[in-house]
Order: sequence, then structure tokens, then C-alpha cells
Amino acid sequence: MKTLIKNGLLVQTEFCMHADLLIDDERIVVIAPHIKDDRAEIYDAEGCMVFPGFIDAHTHLDMDTPACHTADDFSSGSRAALMGGVTTVLDFATQEKKGSLKAALAAWHDLAKEKAWCDYGFHMAITDWNKAIAAELPKLIEEGVSSFKVYMAYKQLRLSDTAIYELSRRLRLMGGLLMFHCENGDLVESLAQELFAEGRRAPEAHAASRPAYAEAEAVVRALVIAEAAGTVPYIVHLSSERALEAARAARFRGQKVWLETCPQYLFLEEAMYQQEFAQAAKYVCSPPLRSSADKNALWQAMLHGEMDVVSTDHCSFNMAGQKSKGLKDFRRIPNGLPGVEHRPLLLYSYGVSQGKLSPSQLAMLAAENPARIFGLYPRKGVLRAEADADIVIIEPDAPYTIEAASQWQNVDYTPYEGMELTARIRAVWLRGELMAEEGRLLAKRPGGQYLARGPSAGV
Ligand code: URP
Ligand code: ZN
Ligand code: ZN
Repeated sequence: MKTLIKNGLLVQTEFCMHADLLIDDERIVVIAPHIKDDRAEIYDAEGCMVFPGFIDAHTHLDMDTPACHTADDFSSGSRAALMGGVTTVLDFATQEKKGSLKAALAAWHDLAKEKAWCDYGFHMAITDWNKAIAAELPKLIEEGVSSFKVYMAYKQLRLSDTAIYELSRRLRLMGGLLMFHCENGDLVESLAQELFAEGRRAPEAHAASRPAYAEAEAVVRALVIAEAAGTVPYIVHLSSERALEAARAARFRGQKVWLETCPQYLFLEEAMYQQEFAQAAKYVCSPPLRSSADKNALWQAMLHGEMDVVSTDHCSFNMAGQKSKGLKDFRRIPNGLPGVEHRPLLLYSYGVSQGKLSPSQLAMLAAENPARIFGLYPRKGVLRAEADADIVIIEPDAPYTIEAASQWQNVDYTPYEGMELTARIRAVWLRGELMAEEGRLLAKRPGGQYLARGPSAGV
């Protein structure tokens, strides 16, 4: 089966060009100014932009937390991703305390298999560290899990600095990448207890208990541990100017570090917490939403090429019955926001349409860089011959408003409710199959495949 996409503006990270693109079976085979192929079905992309399928390198689907289970599983989460132009998600398999990595990986395969509507891979979050876990690492890498995560916060998940250092040393030998959730966990817990004891129970206290300095301190520590281990750290969900400055200082000294931020830190602000519980709890995530100065600093960093990746940290919980558990105690509100469906068009509408971000920068931040950093390049993340035909057509000047009522995410709200978008996702191909068009899901079955990833190729 061949498809010929004609007349679109192809977005590549070096430049954009008007060209045709021929798909044969699962792959892109030719990109050229005027392709003729009588056996191909023609798709006319006149007036539209043709992007590589977007990659969301940070999702939590079908995940258990002490508070509750995420609202989106692999079925609903990956379908929402696909409908929003995301053709690959990288989800965090998470080791159970005292459990093996093998068991965690098997559990995540079971969660995703035959349910995923887009392609998927797994990072492994390591929550327990000992010799037996260390011995498991080579097998994980062999099975395509080439990136790992440590939490520096959350009592039930975090590792000590010693453990993080030892893990980093091991990964260095094997070419594995270590990702860091950076918040000073001890400090956050002390602050949260103090605030609670003072009678502060509302979501604003969640933000107050997780200040930017607690993030910045952990970023510095992650950088120091990585320096000692000789590795390149990947900082997930960077949210504040102070943490950004810590990373900048390290780069200035010559240290390499990958930085990721998320739409919630680019589009939302801490003022959201100054509302009644039913509104404010919707925005409880860690790190929390920050000030408008932080938001502006992250935008500047993104525009000037200091940010490597924008992912979502999609971790959805319903207001009803889930977030609402924390009505009398902010510490019981499950942490996390939905977003996997809306990231590409938010960035397009408020970045590209406003002339702040070039289409190529969008492709870089949300497709090519994650593909390179997480060992998927050049199979994913680019429009070029031999790559998987994961393609997204964006129709500019087709405004609509984000509403929970019409979203695909299986959650009873969206933090971006009411935000105006300037463009729509017109069509999405996954490995050559037209999966979605004009807001309709065409695929009859979830055809997402597991992606065994190689080592990080850098950017
Ligand atoms: O609040 C958040 N971010 N929840 C998801 C888990 C994490 O920290 O990434
Ligand atoms: Zn995190
Ligand atoms: Zn996360």
C-alpha cells in the first residue's frame, strides 16, 4: 500500500520545504519536489504543514500511586495521544519496592500490549537499589529499555544519593541514560508537615511546600552526581528559573545536561492555586505550577535552544473521586496532570502561530530530539527516507477551543480548558497506516508496537 502526500510544507529540523512524500507500506521511501506514482493513493496536504509524528517522552499510563490509579490507561491515553498527533509515547515502567526490574517490565508490557494505539517504549523508574537490581540492568538494556529514572522526592519512590551515584556508574558502563525527578524530598516533606500543622490544607500549600529552591538544589545535586559518575543527566519536567539557572551554570562550566520541560510550566501559573478547591486541585502536580517569571524564563530558554525536549508528564486523575480525596489535606491530592493530547497544538498555537517558535523548533523539541536522546533515531522523529511513516498533518488557521467535554483523554477535566487553539490535527499516520483524520479515529484496532530502543545518540 502506497500513499503520496502532496503539496504540503514538510517540516524538517534544518528547514521546511514544499515537497511530496511517498509512503510505501510502513516507511517513508522518497521525499522530492514532484513525485509521480500511479499506484499510490494521493493525500492532498495543500495549505498544511507536514510534521514527523510527535513523541511524548514522559507519560504515566495505567500507573498505581499510593493515592489512586491513573485515570488513563494505555488504551485511552495512547488513543488520546494519537488523536493529538503523538505517534510514540515513552512511559515510565516503575519498579515496586522490593520488586525486580524484570517483573516491572513484564507488568508494563502486559498493560500496553494490544491496547496501545500508538507506538510505545518504556523507561524504567528504579525505586530500590541493591546488587540484585544492578545485575538486572544489562538485560533491561538488551530488551530495549535504555533509559532509567530516579526520583529525588516522594518517600515511597526516592533513592539516596549513594544509590543514584552507584546506578549512574553502572549505567555509564552500559550506555544507559539516567533521568532525574529533581526536588529535595526531605525538605518538601518537612515543609508540607509544617504547613499542615499551621492549618494550611488547601492546594496552595502543595505549591508552598515545593518551592523552586527545592527543585534547584536537587538539580545541582543531580548535576554533581552525574559529574562524579561521568554521565549526562536528563532533568525531567524542569519548572523554574532557579533550576534553569543551575543547569545553565553547569553548561557554562562545560557539563552536558539534557533539559525537559512540560506544557503546564509553559502555559499555566501558580495563580491557579488561588481558587476554591474544586478548581485549584486540578493543577496539583510536582513540581507545582510556578510564577509568571518562571514561565517566561522557560519560554526564553525554549526559544533560544536551551531546552532539549518538551514532553507532558501526562499523569491524569479525575477530579471526582480522585483529586477530591485531598479536600481536607493537600498532601492527599494525587499529583499529576493530563496533557498528552494537547501538547503539539498548544505549542503550535502559542509558539509557531505567534511567530515565537519556528515549525522546525517544534519538530526538534517534540519529535527529533526525543528520538535522538532516547535511542529511536532515525527510525522515529524525522521525515526522511527509511524512517517509519509516522506523519502528522497540521491544518493552520482552523481555530477551536480545548474542552474536556470533547477530549479523548479519559479524565473529567483538562487544565487547558477554554484555551483557544489556532490549528487542528488534520491527519495522523502510524507506520504508514492512516489512523486518524479530521478528528475521527479511523483505525479499527490499537496497532501500537513496542519499541526496543538503542543507546542515546545525543542531539
Ligand atoms: O505530579 C507529577 N508530576 N506526577 C507524576 C509523577 C512525576 O513526578 O513525574
Ligand atoms: Zn516527576
Ligand atoms: Zn512524571
